Amino acid sequence: CRPGLMPAAGIKVQPSGCCLPNEYQLYAERLRTFHVRHDDIWCISYPKCGTTWTQEMVWLLENNLDFETAKDKLLLERVPFFEAVSLVTQDFLVKDENEKDIFGDTIAFTHEQPSPRVIKTHLPARLLPLEIWTRKPKLIYVTRDPKDVAISYYHHHRLWNGYSGSYEDFIEGFLQDKLVYSPFWEHIAGYVKLSHLPNVLINSYEDMTNDLAGVIRRTAAFLGREYTESEVARLAEHLKFPSMKKNAAVNGEDFIVDLKEKHGMCKEDPDLSFVRKGKSGGFREAMPQHLIDRFDEWSRTKKIELGIQDLNLSQ
Ligand code: A3P
Repeated sequence: CRPGLMPAAGIKVQPSGCCLPNEYQLYAERLRTFHVRHDDIWCISYPKCGTTWTQEMVWLLENNLDFETAKDKLLLERVPFFEAVSLVTQDFLVKDENEKDIFGDTIAFTHEQPSPRVIKTHLPARLLPLEIWTRKPKLIYVTRDPKDVAISYYHHHRLWNGYSGSYEDFIEGFLQDKLVYSPFWEHIAGYVKLSHLPNVLINSYEDMTNDLAGVIRRTAAFLGREYTESEVARLAEHLKFPSMKKNAAVNGEDFIVDLKEKHGMCKEDPDLSFVRKGKSGGFREAMPQHLIDRFDEWSRTKKIELGIQDLNLSQ
């Protein structure tokens, strides 16, 4: 695999216990000392848990359901990806309407946004900017069944990093917590343990697939926003999988075409897309029973170890 994937290829486990590319060290200080605003809203997750979906929901709730702007302006521009500059960035050359590189200095880009900012991060709680704990902005965290996350992350690595190793090796890397932003359960536990705080909301991908309108109502209430039932229904329609899949402002298809070309990948492969299958429990079609059993045992043990055994993400 290429650098940026597994520890053996240039990833170090940081002292705080998170797998990050070496580039992270160049930016760690700026990320830690970033000026947080009280009215920021941070959309946070381990990768592939439904971050994009959450970002689009939160941005629209915060912006009076401005569907026009949401369709015109890339989600990446509306909701900056805070630490993206510290990832391996050469694959992510995305320009805004003024030809400014959005994935250039994403810390500066986040800083420049007008309030109230909606910000995306995959950082574990312990690596958030220090001012998060004093300014207390709203934190919206989204969880997902790790079996679905692992499969989604596998296809993500094929697409974004040209991963050409085997599915089995990748899954093994996931279970051994060797992927970027792992360890998985520690990431979840770090936020679940904050869920008693009034500025923290935990949603799950499973809830979003089962009852999207319910999650919209809950998130709107958390943000202090009021919407009528017909507005909630309109937002749910905009956020449902087929709409998101064909929405050019969120599906990344423009740069996916370039990525496929760069990595010499099959243009028709349906798994090589950002808004891909959108199922909860999709692992049942893509994972042999022995791996499902291994995952479930791993999750059970980890949750006990981390004191979050009551958390149920499965269907
Ligand atoms: P799959 O690869 O399982 O389809 P993230 O945004 O955190 O990278 O998560 C990506 C996952 O969210 C992908 O999962 C993607 O398809 C799914 N997703 C994005 N938008 C969705 C939607 N509107 N409904 C359901 N799933 C969605």
